[in-house]
Amino acid sequence: MIEFINVSKTFPEGNHAVENINLKIEDGEFVFIVGPSGAGKSTMLKLIMREETPSEGKVIVNGRDLTKMRRSQVPYLRRTMGIVFQDFRLIDKMTVFENVAFAMRVTGTKQSVIKKRVPYVLKLVGLERMGTRHPSELSGGEQQRVSLARALANEPSLIIADEPTGNVDPKRSYEIMNLLKEVNKMGTTVLVVTHEHNLVTKFNGRVIKMKRGKIVKDTAEEYYKERNKKERESEDRFAGFDEISENKTETTYSDNYDEIHERVNRLIKDIENEN
Ligand SMILES: Nc1ncnc2c1ncn2[C@@H]1O[C@H](COP(=O)(O)OP(=O)(O)OP(=O)(O)O)[C@@H](O)[C@H]1O
Ligand SMILES: [Mg+2]
Repeated sequence: MIEFINVSKTFPEGNHAVENINLKIEDGEFVFIVGPSGAGKSTMLKLIMREETPSEGKVIVNGRDLTKMRRSQVPYLRRTMGIVFQDFRLIDKMTVFENVAFAMRVTGTKQSVIKKRVPYVLKLVGLERMGTRHPSELSGGEQQRVSLARALANEPSLIIADEPTGNVDPKRSYEIMNLLKEVNKMGTTVLVVTHEHNLVTKFNGRVIKMKRGKIVKDTAEEYYKERNKKERESEDRFAGFDEISENKTETTYSDNYDEIHERVNRLIKDIENEN
């Protein structure tokens, strides 16, 4: 769970990036953060990943008060998160493959797992043929997708994506959002900053609207109602399936990702057929 308690962030030059924010985000939510440029969206995300610390108030992530967290603990916090930065932050000296693999190496993942997982996430974002290139040899949208692949690599419990569709065409935007939605369905909490109004209306999610550092709208209640209704419906739909799933052995994450990939592909085909 993420909690903001009376959080303000004022930069030394006197900019109030975020002003007295109170907010709770439960595990498993899908949250859009919207609002004009300079509203404080990226600052909110940076407070959650502890790239910034609040000038006032508390930010609590999974029960830990980030304002009291020691610097040495920050890498452990980040390992639970997949982050898509607004400015990508890829390492140009490394290939695309290495950029994603690097993120896995720092968490101590075995080489044998990395070798399988990296091509897999690159395929998920449609970059399976780009592994040997360097970021500078890619378009903005392709770099953005590398950044998304890197965020997915460690199967994080929270994905924070700052305008992950800012540089891609409408079809790709749709695919990326679908991918995030599918990952969310598997239990990952997703926070997405976006300027694309049509994506927000097309994809169900809680919408937090910011303006001049404040939350001016939050559809949390509507979102919870809708989500509970959907959960009840899906429970009904799957009634009687319990016996079948009991016989199944434990599902691994990679099974889940295969399933996601297939579903995303099907969705893409559906869209293409529609057009
Ligand atoms: N490091 C910084 N130093 C000083 N001011 C900053 C810093 N980072 C952000 N700000 C200011 O805080 C405000 C909020 O910035 P933020 O980056 O959170 O906006 P945003 O909503 O993400 O905007 P955009 O949609 O353009 O990305 C802006 O006025 C910005 O100039
Ligand atoms: Mg921003």
